[in-house]
Amino acid sequence: MVAEEPSEVRATAPGRVNLIGDHTDHTGGLVLPMAIDLATVVEGRRGGDAVVVTSEDRAGRAVIGLDGAIVDGSPGWSRYVAGVVAEVAPSTGLDATVRTTLPLGGGLSSSAALEVAVALALGGPDDPVELARLCRRAEQRATGVPCGIMDQLASAAGVEGHALLIDCHEETVRPVPMPSAIEVVVVDSGQARELVGSPYAERVAACRAAEVAIGPLRRADPSDLAAIDDPTIRRRARHVVTENARVRAAVEALRAGDLAEVGRLVDASHESLRHDFEVSTPELDDLVARLRRHPGVLGARLTGAGFGGCVVALARPGALAGWAPERSWTVTPARGAHRVTGLG
Ligand code: GLA
Repeated sequence: MVAEEPSEVRATAPGRVNLIGDHTDHTGGLVLPMAIDLATVVEGRRGGDAVVVTSEDRAGRAVIGLDGAIVDGSPGWSRYVAGVVAEVAPSTGLDATVRTTLPLGGGLSSSAALEVAVALALGGPDDPVELARLCRRAEQRATGVPCGIMDQLASAAGVEGHALLIDCHEETVRPVPMPSAIEVVVVDSGQARELVGSPYAERVAACRAAEVAIGPLRRADPSDLAAIDDPTIRRRARHVVTENARVRAAVEALRAGDLAEVGRLVDASHESLRHDFEVSTPELDDLVARLRRHPGVLGARLTGAGFGGCVVALARPGALAGWAPERSWTVTPARGAHRVTGLG
């Protein structure tokens, strides 16, 4: 007889903040996120013939068949759990609770953290890239949004004290030490953001159209852009091409300890997302402007998809203490997702 596996499991998955490199992952470009010290924990017991997850933070209980079908009456967030169940295809169920210190739907990848934690709890792969690929597919199943791999990979592969330089084409992760002279502060604009039904998919399509004209954007340089006829598509592509260059430059500046240059690149990223990629909003622009005026702030930008959500500021330690009237978090680079089995 085969020995029984321990059935108790606890899986922890952090959220992420992206320091620079937005809307580059879906064309296989470069991003520089870090996993943060706010996380989601799924804890329970394997067994049974359904995946049942009860939330300590939100109403309701997700009840999902082992084939990934959502049982009637499950709340909206169940679709993320269902997407993961469909991808993992576990042979046995789970009865678990989920709790989180992440703001829900606030632009810090609470959905990716939920997916990664559920996948690990269901026995998903240990390898961070495999785990992230699976959870990206789960997110796409759940939402229909053609997202890239950044959020899930940052959560899966986080390294304490480090940002992560991710090449989204090669799917490689290089930890980049975060200088202690930089504090990372995330401020919620309060503008609710939902990527389903947002122009996210339209932006992805614009990048595809640009690639039809000039080939992979990850290999393009600014001189290639003139060959794109449509001025809107050209601006979208210009954002991606210049943003990839800014990520490379930011990594060099971090390594060299050139904090002023890091801040300048972060500011330039926001302007490019605002004017060329057009994913900012007046609320985000206003928040960024106010943060930049604050002494000790090196740079500020929208982070993530845009259309609302959060702004990230890189600041001298303590510079923003007590500043933000809005919801804000000082975050530190944290360890990636992990699982403990056979508790107690
Ligand atoms: C969302 C997506 C990511 C990425 C960012 C923008 O967070 O899930 O894949 O495209 O937007 O950089």
